[in-house]
Amino acid sequence: MATIIKNGTLITASDTFVADILIENEAIAQIGKDLQHPNAEVIDATNKLIMPGGIDPHVHLDLPMFGTVSSDDHYTGHKAAAFGGTTTAMDFVVLESPSPSGRGARGEGDFQYSVDLWMEKSAKAAIDYSFHMNLTKFNDKIAKEIPSLMKMGIQTLKVFTAYNGKLRLDDGGIFKALRIAKDNGMLMMAHCENGDVIESLIPEALAAGHTSPEYHALTRPAWGAVEATLRMAAMAEQADSPVYIVHMNVGGEVDMLKYARERGVKVMGETCPQYLFFTIENLRQPDGAKWICSPPMRSKQDNARLWEGLHDGVLQTIGTDHCPFFFDGTQSIMYEGKVIAIAGKELGKDDFTKIPNGLPGIQDRMPIMWTYGVRAGHITPNQFVAYNCTNPAKIFGLYPRKGALIPGADADIVIWDAEKKIKYGVAQSHQRTDYNLYEGWELTGYPEKVFLRGKLIVDGEKWLGKSGDGQFLKRGEGEIL
Ligand code: URP
Ligand code: ZN
Ligand code: ZN
Repeated sequence: MATIIKNGTLITASDTFVADILIENEAIAQIGKDLQHPNAEVIDATNKLIMPGGIDPHVHLDLPMFGTVSSDDHYTGHKAAAFGGTTTAMDFVVLESPSPSGRGARGEGDFQYSVDLWMEKSAKAAIDYSFHMNLTKFNDKIAKEIPSLMKMGIQTLKVFTAYNGKLRLDDGGIFKALRIAKDNGMLMMAHCENGDVIESLIPEALAAGHTSPEYHALTRPAWGAVEATLRMAAMAEQADSPVYIVHMNVGGEVDMLKYARERGVKVMGETCPQYLFFTIENLRQPDGAKWICSPPMRSKQDNARLWEGLHDGVLQTIGTDHCPFFFDGTQSIMYEGKVIAIAGKELGKDDFTKIPNGLPGIQDRMPIMWTYGVRAGHITPNQFVAYNCTNPAKIFGLYPRKGALIPGADADIVIWDAEKKIKYGVAQSHQRTDYNLYEGWELTGYPEKVFLRGKLIVDGEKWLGKSGDGQFLKRGEGEIL
């Protein structure tokens, strides 16, 4: 079965040109003018844009948290991703240990056991996917086993400088892990906040009776993120090992990234749409819990500096940190004809520390960034492709199989209708939650058709994908951008 996408305008990370694409055997076979094939189905893409399928480097599907679970699993989250033009998603494996009393108890940490659990969850995948490992414990045994992750196709370790006593590693552990990463061609990803400051401020806020969502942000200060970003960059330099800072949210983090990169430090940065559009003011609204995630929303000045970071190329990627919860999990929604209610943000209605951390975004990323990033003049169409598709593929060892419109690459392709106008929100969203952060936003530009390895999985509003169609992607060493 062959397909020719005719006469579209191809947008890559570096070029824009009109051409045809021939797809055969799940891959791009040829790119050129007037391509012919005796049995190909021909799709006319005149006046449409053609991009590589998006790669979301940062999602949390089916993630247990605060006695509930993020409300998209590896099927619903992937389906939503596809409708937004994303064909590969990278999820974080929780480091767990087998326990005689059943699964899920946290102990020493066992990589193989933890990956197997995540593989089971991902059996329902509808787009291609890979894993990062949360390195939330560190000891001699774990240190020895880190290289085994590369054999499992997991090239990345996420560390936290916050969540004391839970997810955090101390700086010594981070430094040692960085050296192991370097020796094995692995990449460390870092969640940057100051855990000690946060753990001091939270009890103070609660003791003073401050229980509303805005205190989530007020107890996680921006300077903690800035300082931790510089700390991670400094450790990257001292260990001579690259670091990727996830979900950058503060203007000062961009300044630190620029400072370090100008000095040749191998440090890269990701931001997420929510940090470009929203502020602590959103947390002050009656429905402020919708915007609770960690790190929190900041200020308009931070939004502006992050946009500059994308415009100037200081940042390398846009991820989503998609980790949705219902706003009101006591009320059900319908999803694919089934009644669904999953406990969510209401768990923290009297205490901000009990609001599950995370928000939806896997479908929203590319459409929102097109209208409010490209059309608004913050980034070019080529930067859009670089940040959403090509750079994540390069950094995370998937290039040129993914993130590229070149012969030999997987035929993960989006036909983008740059003129399509829609009023966005829950009605268009396949994210399995009861709200959308961009409710009522006017969009111009939206995916029209989405192909996963040559198979049409989204055709306008029609879903043609299926649970189990997504493949696990073993990743090798990536590039340092
Ligand atoms: O609030 C968030 N972002 N939840 C997901 C976990 C993380 O730190 O990325
Ligand atoms: Zn994080
Ligand atoms: Zn995250």
